[in-house]
Amino acid sequence: MNTPQPGILLPVPPLARYLSFSLGDTTRIGECLRALSNLADGENMVVGFGQSLVSALNSNIPGLKSFPLITAPGLSIERAPEAAWVWLRGDDRGEILHRSRRITQALSPALQFEESMDAFTYAEGRDLSGYEDGTENPIGDEAIKSAIVGADQPQLAGSSFVAAQRWRHNFDRFESMPKAEQDNTIGRRQSDNEELDDAPESAHVKRTAQESFTPEAFVLRRSMPWAEGNAGGLMFVAFGASFYAFEAILNRMTGAEDGIVDALFKFTQPVSGAYFWCPALRDGKLDLTPLGL
Ligand code: HEM
Repeated sequence: MNTPQPGILLPVPPLARYLSFSLGDTTRIGECLRALSNLADGENMVVGFGQSLVSALNSNIPGLKSFPLITAPGLSIERAPEAAWVWLRGDDRGEILHRSRRITQALSPALQFEESMDAFTYAEGRDLSGYEDGTENPIGDEAIKSAIVGADQPQLAGSSFVAAQRWRHNFDRFESMPKAEQDNTIGRRQSDNEELDDAPESAHVKRTAQESFTPEAFVLRRSMPWAEGNAGGLMFVAFGASFYAFEAILNRMTGAEDGIVDALFKFTQPVSGAYFWCPALRDGKLDLTPLGL
């Protein structure tokens, strides 16, 4: 029986690294993905494949596509390399580095290593703005229903789709806002995480309220802060049984629905984004059969 990669459903780890790859020698994809499959347990390493890799294999994963080019006033989101994505989870930076080297070797020459970004847990699960992140995540069976493809799609059952989007915060701008404005930006009080009933319509949690969409738009968020020099932000990562919920929410955040732009954009901007399909595990290994391998 196929099972989801367990790292999707587990809490976020203390440390992580995201790797992304573009296509290299496409004649070698089969052998390199099998080598990767020997290293990937789905728990300490969650793996996703993008549309360019699937197309190179002349394969089709229904529901997978390229990250949409989103245009809104003052907003441009670059497409990140989208052949493959690896989320290395752990608690030792050196060990993560060595695993990342082994994966890069296993995937070469079919996939070319493009970028890596180290991430971490901050203040027991807060975004670098200081607000708790993940409070309204579905849990238990609801998490599985939101994030994992069900038996209604037998070919893909147990797999998942992930949207990975890197956001860069403008800390100076955020810190220049009075506390009440910061709280209204998120729609929760930073001090005790209480939701603010009188928050403006632009507040992030009002824009994104998952039950308010038709159909409801639940995502399983597994985001982690990143930092490089004095820059930093959120590696926003949302797993879904499809991209429907992510797209519905992001669409409303940008104001495309009703002209009200999410107040988050006042202090943070998405810099890049990509979509991937995360295969299920079969007998503890990545099930590559939907790719025709
Ligand atoms: C830098 C970017 C972002 C930051 C700092 C951020 C932060 C937060 C925070 C602090 C909360 C409240 C606590 C919680 O329920 O987790 C929240 C809720 C939420 N966010 Fe974000 N978020 C970001 C981007 C996004 C994006 C891109 C999406 C989806 C497209 C999204 C979807 C959601 C959802 C669905 C909720 C829960 C809403 C509810 O049902 O109450 N967020 N976010």
